[in-house]
Amino acid sequence: MKKTLQNLDWSNLGFTYMDTDYRFISYWKDGQWDTGSLDSGNTVTINQGSTALHYGQQVFEGMKAYRTKEGDIQLFRPEENAKRMAKSCQRLMMPDYPVDQFVEAVKAVVKANESWVPPYESGSTLYIRPYMIGVGENIGVKPAAEYIFSIFVMPVGPYFKGGLTPTNFIVSDYDRAAPHGTGAAKVGGNYASSLMPGHLAHQRQFSDCIYLDPATHTKIEEVGSANFFAITHDDVFVTPYSPSILPSITKYSLLYLAEHHLGMKVSEGDVYLDQLGMFKEAGACGTAAVISPIGGIQNGEDFHVFYSETEVGPVTYELYRTLTAIQFGDLEAPEGWIVKIKD
Ligand SMILES: Cc1ncc(COP(=O)(O)O)c(C=O)c1O
Repeated sequence: MKKTLQNLDWSNLGFTYMDTDYRFISYWKDGQWDTGSLDSGNTVTINQGSTALHYGQQVFEGMKAYRTKEGDIQLFRPEENAKRMAKSCQRLMMPDYPVDQFVEAVKAVVKANESWVPPYESGSTLYIRPYMIGVGENIGVKPAAEYIFSIFVMPVGPYFKGGLTPTNFIVSDYDRAAPHGTGAAKVGGNYASSLMPGHLAHQRQFSDCIYLDPATHTKIEEVGSANFFAITHDDVFVTPYSPSILPSITKYSLLYLAEHHLGMKVSEGDVYLDQLGMFKEAGACGTAAVISPIGGIQNGEDFHVFYSETEVGPVTYELYRTLTAIQFGDLEAPEGWIVKIKD
């Protein structure tokens, strides 16, 4: 059944595709972007030789629009997504889309789909998916001569089923990225290689995989398509650093909030798999995941439980409360973090 605004149950949405009213679309040809426009399409027609189809020349972003208590709509750090997409584009030899134009395009497409932004406190948000693909006639391995940049949106509920209830994860034998590869870029290839490990994890009833550093397989890097953080017994917020981790905007926001709002010490560095005992809590964080507490991690025969398999830990909860209060406009945000769509 095609979803309509009338038959949407805002409080019970999954993280599933849905058509909405408008998308933004812009074309790069002869070395420049056109002005772009809103249309009501949900398909793209591209040449069969397009580099996006054969050589993975495509990048994307994921962000959200939030409805405030007053009924306003706001974005959370959209310039950071624009900058990260520009970096991903550079890595794949694609033209970047200027940061200010990116933010304006996101604002335009959200405003055009205003009625699809879920109500405050429904537990749902409007997910925003910008992407760019290399298109046009081509057959050799080289950057495309033409590109499409587009943004579409849809209302979504929680990414991991548990929400704030902890779920369990399993260490994968597979890697999502290579040591000097494209792990730090948001490119489709990283996700294609994560499909099988993700499937194997789901088959064993885990929420997703834990990916280790691809060079030594001794350190935690990512949690499925989210970053990893943990809290030590003496309240230090710890998160891994590695050039093959996607730099999560949520993670860097939490680092800042832990230090400046919660007065915690923070540290970005190696998180060794054989030292999980130093942490009292752990979680996955990202735009889609928000904060998902990690109950336990299966590593071979070992199963390590953090705070609890059923209850969110107090520090994780406080981080969640602070982050979401800012995103939904209930707490004053650090300067420049919030971009209003409509007041
Ligand atoms: C592999 C991966 N890591 C981390 C994240 C979290 O990043 P962010 O907080 O910017 O959404 C995402 C989602 O975008 C991701 O796909």
